[in-house]
Amino acid sequence: MDNKRILILSYSYSSQTRNLLNGLMEGLREKDREIHWEQLTLTSELRFPLGSIAATVIMMVQTFFRKRYPILPLSPVCFEQWDLVIVAGPTWSYSPSGPILSLIDRDGQKIFSGKMVLPFISCRGYWRVHYFGLKGMLRRCGAHVLAPIVFSHPTPEPWRTIGVFLKLAGRAPEAGSSWFRRFYPKYGHSREQIAESRKLGLVVGQAMQAGDSLEKVVFPVPVKTEDG
Ligand SMILES: Cc1cc2nc3c(=O)[nH]c(=O)nc-3n(C[C@H](O)[C@H](O)[C@H](O)COP(=O)(O)O)c2cc1C
Repeated sequence: MDNKRILILSYSYSSQTRNLLNGLMEGLREKDREIHWEQLTLTSELRFPLGSIAATVIMMVQTFFRKRYPILPLSPVCFEQWDLVIVAGPTWSYSPSGPILSLIDRDGQKIFSGKMVLPFISCRGYWRVHYFGLKGMLRRCGAHVLAPIVFSHPTPEPWRTIGVFLKLAGRAPEAGSSWFRRFYPKYGHSREQIAESRKLGLVVGQAMQAGDSLEKVVFPVPVKTEDG
């Protein structure tokens, strides 16, 4: 058994990060290694979709000001020694999501101090501000922060921005026979991206097993010029 231990801390509101992590896990699990995947749970329910345009606008504004979304306590195993901690979640209004912010506020020092941390981001397309903010917060907790793994929704602009907004508002833009569907066939990530995430899981696992520094592993970032 590979003796490197990996902790994954994740939050996913509309299942996109979770789908990508399922792929990543398959890749990491190619070899028998110890992995603990802790999915953050909110203290009060946050319905998906929100169901109205007003609720969507309010959430966008609140998250722009980095509203915290309180989470239940973590399992004790999360506070053990881990060789790599993967922090995964969506971008919310150019920042890490509210549950991840709550995690860092409450447990950041205890979990991340002295750890190698790999940020894993699922977003519509604008991740750089999120990454730099997250990197700063994790560093202040004493973490060693690696370059991120990032997945952007593959549908081009402006459709993916409108599509995410309508999806949150409960309009299911990818369903039915509207003209919009021609430009927006699917909300979120593609099957190809989940397969890509599996490959990245293999890369991470192999690098750790070989004792290679993960700092030398450069993950492909989304290449569209508008991304960031
Ligand atoms: C409140 C809110 C704000 C968002 N803001 C951004 C943003 O600033 N940039 C971006 O690229 N995506 C943004 N998104 C889209 C999500 O990052 C994207 O849909 C992601 O794939 C969702 O992952 P999840 O299903 O794991 O929560 C936002 C989503 C929500 C709910």
